[in-house]
Amino acid sequence: MIEEIYPRSFGDSNGDGVGDLNGITQHLDYLQTLGIDAIWIAPMYPSPQVDFGYDIADYERVDPQYGSLADFDALLRAAKKHHIRIILDMVLNHTSDRHAWFVESASSRDNPKADWYVWNDGVAAGAPGVTAFQKRFEHDGKVPPNNWESVFGGSAWEWVPARRQFYYHRFYRQQPDLNWRNPAVEHAMFGAMRFWLDRGVAGFRLDAISTLFEDPQLRNDPQRPGTNAQGDPNLSTRYSDNLPEVHDVIRRMRAMVDKYPGDRVLIGETYTADVADLDTWYGGSRRDELQLPMNMLPGFGWRAKFDAGWFRKTLEGAQTVPGQPLIVFDNHDNPRSIDRFGDGRHDVQRAKAIATLLLTSRATALTYYGAPLGMTTATPARKEDVRDPIGITGWPKEKGRDGERTPMQWTPGPQAGFSTNPRTWLPVNPNHVTVNVQTELAEPGSLLNWYRKLIALRRSNPALRDGDMTFLDRTDPDVLVYRRGGAHPVTVLVNFSGMPQKVKTGIVQRAVRTLAATDPALANTTTLDGATLPAYATWIVTPAK
Ligand code: GLC
Repeated sequence: MIEEIYPRSFGDSNGDGVGDLNGITQHLDYLQTLGIDAIWIAPMYPSPQVDFGYDIADYERVDPQYGSLADFDALLRAAKKHHIRIILDMVLNHTSDRHAWFVESASSRDNPKADWYVWNDGVAAGAPGVTAFQKRFEHDGKVPPNNWESVFGGSAWEWVPARRQFYYHRFYRQQPDLNWRNPAVEHAMFGAMRFWLDRGVAGFRLDAISTLFEDPQLRNDPQRPGTNAQGDPNLSTRYSDNLPEVHDVIRRMRAMVDKYPGDRVLIGETYTADVADLDTWYGGSRRDELQLPMNMLPGFGWRAKFDAGWFRKTLEGAQTVPGQPLIVFDNHDNPRSIDRFGDGRHDVQRAKAIATLLLTSRATALTYYGAPLGMTTATPARKEDVRDPIGITGWPKEKGRDGERTPMQWTPGPQAGFSTNPRTWLPVNPNHVTVNVQTELAEPGSLLNWYRKLIALRRSNPALRDGDMTFLDRTDPDVLVYRRGGAHPVTVLVNFSGMPQKVKTGIVQRAVRTLAATDPALANTTTLDGATLPAYATWIVTPAK
C-alpha cells in the first residue's frame, strides 16, 4: 500500500503556511496506523514552484521551504522505524528554466550545455504548410518548426533571443524538455537518481515518463476535431509522446537500480488508452523495465463511472498485464475520486466501494493523502484565487488542480491542524470540521476506519495478499462479485446500486464467515444465497470452517 504525499499540503511544522518534510516526519505515526508501506513524495527539490515542484532547479537538494537534506535524512531514518519506505518523484522529461543547465544552454549556441535541451531554428513564417496556430508564435519572422502544443496551452516552442532559436517544452514554458538523444543528459540524470538511491530511498515515481523523446523529423501531430480547454486545436500526440526510444532508457535505468540491494522500485506515470499498452512499460515478457507502471484506466478512463460493469471490465483487464498491477484512483492532477464517483448524496458510501476495489483487487494499491478520509475537491470559485497556472489561462473551462491539493485535514480545529498559520498556501476546506483524522478515528463507521480495516485485512489474509482474482458474476448490472483464490478463498461482493440487491444463488454455496462488511447486519449473515446487500454495501466473506 503506497500513499502519495503532496509535501506542500501534508503537515506544516514551521508555521509558514506551506507543508514541509518535518511535517511529514511528525505524522508518520498516522501513516503507520493506517497501514501504509511506502510513501511517494511529490517533488521536494529546489524549484521556482511554477508547477509546484515539477519544475526542478537542482536535483540533489531539498527546497528550503520544505527543509534541508538533513531533514530529509531524518525523515528517512524515522520512516524506517515506522516500517515505511520512501519513494521520490523523479522528473526526467524537463527541468526548470532556472536550472543551471538550462541557463547555460540558453546563453549561446556553443556552450558546453548547448545540446542538453531541444533547440530548433524554427521556420519562416511564410513557409508552405505553416499553420495558423504556428503563426500565433512568430518572432522576427520565424515561427515554431511544427504544430506541437504544450499540454498546458499554447505552442510547445518558446523563442530565446540570445540563441535566436526556439526550445521545446511539453509542459509550462518554464519547463524546458531535456534532450535525451544526448548521452550526457542520461548520465547526469542517472547520477541524480543514484544520489538518492545512495541515501536510501526505495525508488522513484517517474513523472511524465512517456514524453522523454520526440520525433527527430519534427513531423506535425495529426489534428483532431475541435479545441481543448486552453482554446488550442485538439491533436493526437503521435510524434511527441510514446516514442519507442524511451524503453531503451528505462531498461538501462532498471539495470542501474537493480544493482542496489533491498528491492528498489520504478513506478511509472503511465496514462494509456488501453490496458494492453501497459505491457511495454513492464518490458513485455522480459519484464526488464518498470516494476509498477500505473494502471489509470479503472479510475481515470474516459468512460469511468460508478458502475459494476465498468469495474468488472477494467479490473479484470488489470489482471492481464505481465507483472504486478498497480491501481490508482486519486492523484494530485485530477479531481478527487470521491467527487468523480459520488452522486452528491451517497459519496462516502460510494467511496467505501471504491476503497474496496482498490484494496481487495490483486494489485499494489496507490492512494493519495486525504483520500482515506474522504477529503473532497475544493476548486477555487474565483479566478483570482487560483494558484495553478493552467487554471488561470484556462479559466473557466479549466480551473486548474488546486482543488485536489488543499491542506490535509487532521483535526476539527484551526487550519484543520495542518498549520498554526491562518494563511495557508491554499485554503483549508471548511468541511474539515467533520472530515478529519481525529474525528474519523473515533467513529467506527467512518471511511477512514473502513480503509484501516481493509488494509489490515489485506496484510493478514493470504488470499487477499497474493491470491488470483476471478470474477464470479459476469452480467449483474448492480453487483460485482469476485473471488481471491488460495487455500482459503475470499469472496468480495459490492453493490453499486442505490437499492438493496439479493445475492444471486449459485455463487458460493457453503456457509460463510464475514471478514468485513460496511453494514453491521451483514456481519451476522452466514449464507450468501438469498442474503440481501443493502444499497452500496460491501461484504467480504470466506468459507466458514
Ligand atoms: C506530471 C505531474 C504533473 C506535472 C507534469 C509536468 O503529469 O503529475 O503534476 O504538472 O507531469 O511535470
